[in-house]
Amino acid sequence: MQWTGLNELREKYLSFFESKGHLRLDSFPLVPKNDNSLLLINSGMAPMKKWFLGQEEPPCHRVTTCQKCIRTPDIERVGITARHGTYFEMLGNFSFQDYFKKEATAWAWEFLTKVLEIPAELLYISVYEDDDEAWDIWTKDIGIAEDHMVRFGKEDNFWEHGSGPCGPCSEIYFDRGPEHGCGKPGCKVGCDCDRYMEVWNLVFSQFDSDGKGNYTRLERPNIDTGMGLERLACVMQGVGNLFEVDTVRAILNHVEKISGKTYGEDAKTDISIRVITDHIRSTTFMVSDGIMPSNEGRGYVLRRLLRRAARHGRMLGITRPFLTELV
Ligand code: SER
Repeated sequence: MQWTGLNELREKYLSFFESKGHLRLDSFPLVPKNDNSLLLINSGMAPMKKWFLGQEEPPCHRVTTCQKCIRTPDIERVGITARHGTYFEMLGNFSFQDYFKKEATAWAWEFLTKVLEIPAELLYISVYEDDDEAWDIWTKDIGIAEDHMVRFGKEDNFWEHGSGPCGPCSEIYFDRGPEHGCGKPGCKVGCDCDRYMEVWNLVFSQFDSDGKGNYTRLERPNIDTGMGLERLACVMQGVGNLFEVDTVRAILNHVEKISGKTYGEDAKTDISIRVITDHIRSTTFMVSDGIMPSNEGRGYVLRRLLRRAARHGRMLGITRPFLTELV
């Protein structure tokens, strides 16, 4: 496997799925349309719910996108750790009542091991505890050794977000090596430490949830996959976190330049540099999609992010308005 830039990875993914008959669509805006269950788009599938449920005809039954996403539940952790961020891009390939588990699994494997040439022995697979079909596809059709497979329960391997399409999933993990692990005897896929990084989530979307715990089986199931582009870039660039990825690092370098501070020299300074680097990404895209700061809803999320970024600028000693220089 070779060092690959984030922009190049995005293109490789989308063109790979075009070669498998998918229609490439632009990212949808961050503001959900006709969906009150979400403030902001948080995954590749979120803008496509009607296509999954068969309520609207999609432009093609196979679609691939790279979707702008915002997730803010961990906003307080952003900066404090190098793991958390509010903005990311999600690569996805989707089947609306077209192909199902077999194809989704085989193509994910082909993309990672043939196109990106990630050594197979560094990849681990989880499946939902009852999903023998997925287990058999991975072990028998693809040939994954059982010691590279795990079964997890609903908390880890059943994907749902708000109401709408959902189902059991299978996740692909990359082993960053024992030097990144906690070293504890029981350390394996699913451990909280930094050794096994989840990169791709294949959701076998076969239910419609009303968001209150009731699931209706869909007559014809779908595929919804999601792979964090920045996570994949971490793997392909041999770096430990989002802030070291080429395109994000370029923003971080600019924050260093404006503030006259150097990243990696002082823990407190690093927190501020990371907060600004992350928040300028989310706020730029939010404003570009028409969100304005306000006291409620998504406008409040924007206001909070902007205020945090500006405050951390002050903490770095920047006294002039500077966020526009990063846009
Ligand atoms: N919806 C799933 C996720 O967000 C896969 O796209 O992880």
